[in-house]
Amino acid sequence: MRQTLCSALAAFLMLSVIGADDEAAAQRAYPERPVTLLVPAAAGGPSDTVARLIADSMSKSLGQQFVVENMGGAGGSLGAGKVAKADPDGYTLLLYHIGVTTFAALYPTLPYKPAEAFTSVGLVTEVPMTLVGRSDLPPGSVAELITYLKAQNGTVTFGTAGVGAVSHLCGILLQQATGAKLTTVPYKGTGPAMTDLLGKRIDLMCDQTTNTTNHIKAREVKPYAVTTPQRIGVLSDMPTLQESGFAGFEITAWHAIWAPKGTPEDVRKTLAAALQKALTDPVVIERFAALGTVPVTKELATPAALDERFQSEITRWGKLIAEAGEVAK
Ligand code: MLT
Repeated sequence: MRQTLCSALAAFLMLSVIGADDEAAAQRAYPERPVTLLVPAAAGGPSDTVARLIADSMSKSLGQQFVVENMGGAGGSLGAGKVAKADPDGYTLLLYHIGVTTFAALYPTLPYKPAEAFTSVGLVTEVPMTLVGRSDLPPGSVAELITYLKAQNGTVTFGTAGVGAVSHLCGILLQQATGAKLTTVPYKGTGPAMTDLLGKRIDLMCDQTTNTTNHIKAREVKPYAVTTPQRIGVLSDMPTLQESGFAGFEITAWHAIWAPKGTPEDVRKTLAAALQKALTDPVVIERFAALGTVPVTKELATPAALDERFQSEITRWGKLIAEAGEVAK
C-alpha cells in the first residue's frame, strides 16, 4: 500500500514538473505560431492603418505573422469583448484606443469589465484628430461652422464609429463646447463613414489624421480644425480648435496594445519589447509622419505607462459622459 502511494506521488510530481517545463518552454518559444491582432473597427480605417504597420514590424522582429483581424461594431466594445474572453496565451491581442476607457460608462450591461479584463502591453501612438466636412458644406471657417450648426438646429449629420468610438467622444466634446446639437450616424468604423462623407451622404466628422490627411490634401473634404493644442506639421494650414476660441479643447486617439488578463509575464515582456522595437522602425516612423502622427516615446511604450493612462482617462471620461448624459441605447 505504502509502495503504491509513493510511486503514485512520484508519478504526480514528475507529471507536474513535465507540465511546468512544457509551459515554461512554450513561454520561452513564444510566439511559435501566428498571433491575432484584433482591431475592433472596420478595415481600411485609422485604427486598422496603425495596426497593420505595427503588425508588419512585430512580425519581422518576432519571426511569426501578426495577423490583423477586424471586428467593428458598438464603438469597438464588441471586438474588445472577444479579446477579453480569449485564452491568455499571447496569441490574441487587442489594438485599439482611448475608447476602451469609456466602454464601462457607456455600456452599463457590458459582459466584461475593461479595467479588469486586459493586461497592458504598451501605448503605440497618439493620433491627432481633425474636424472635416463634406466638400460642399457651406461654412468656410470654424466660426461659420458653429453658427451653421446652431442654425441647422441639430439636423447636421455627424459620422462616427459608434458609441464609445473616439470619433463619437470628439462629438460629445464638440457639442459640449459649442452648445450645438448634431445628428450622430454610427458606422462600424470611420473607414466606411469617410466613404459616405466623400459621397456627401453625411455632413461632418471628427476623425483621425491617419484617415483624413490624404483626403484633406486632395481637397476631397473641407478642413475646419485640429483637436490638438498645437497645429500639426502635415496640416499646418488648419487652425486648432483652441485657437478658434475653444479653450482647453483637446482630444487625441491614443492607441495601445492589450492582451487578455492572465497572459504570462514573459509573454507580455516579449510583446512590449517587440512593440518598442516597432516604434523605432523607420518604415513605421515614415508612414506615421506622412499621416500626421508619431510613435510614442520608449518610456510610454510600457505596460506601466499604459496602466497609468488608462486609469486617468477612465476618470476623465466617466465624468464627461455622466455630464453629457450619454449612454448606449
Ligand atoms: C476606426 O478605426 O474606425 C476608428 O478608430 C474608430 C473611432 O472613431 O474610434
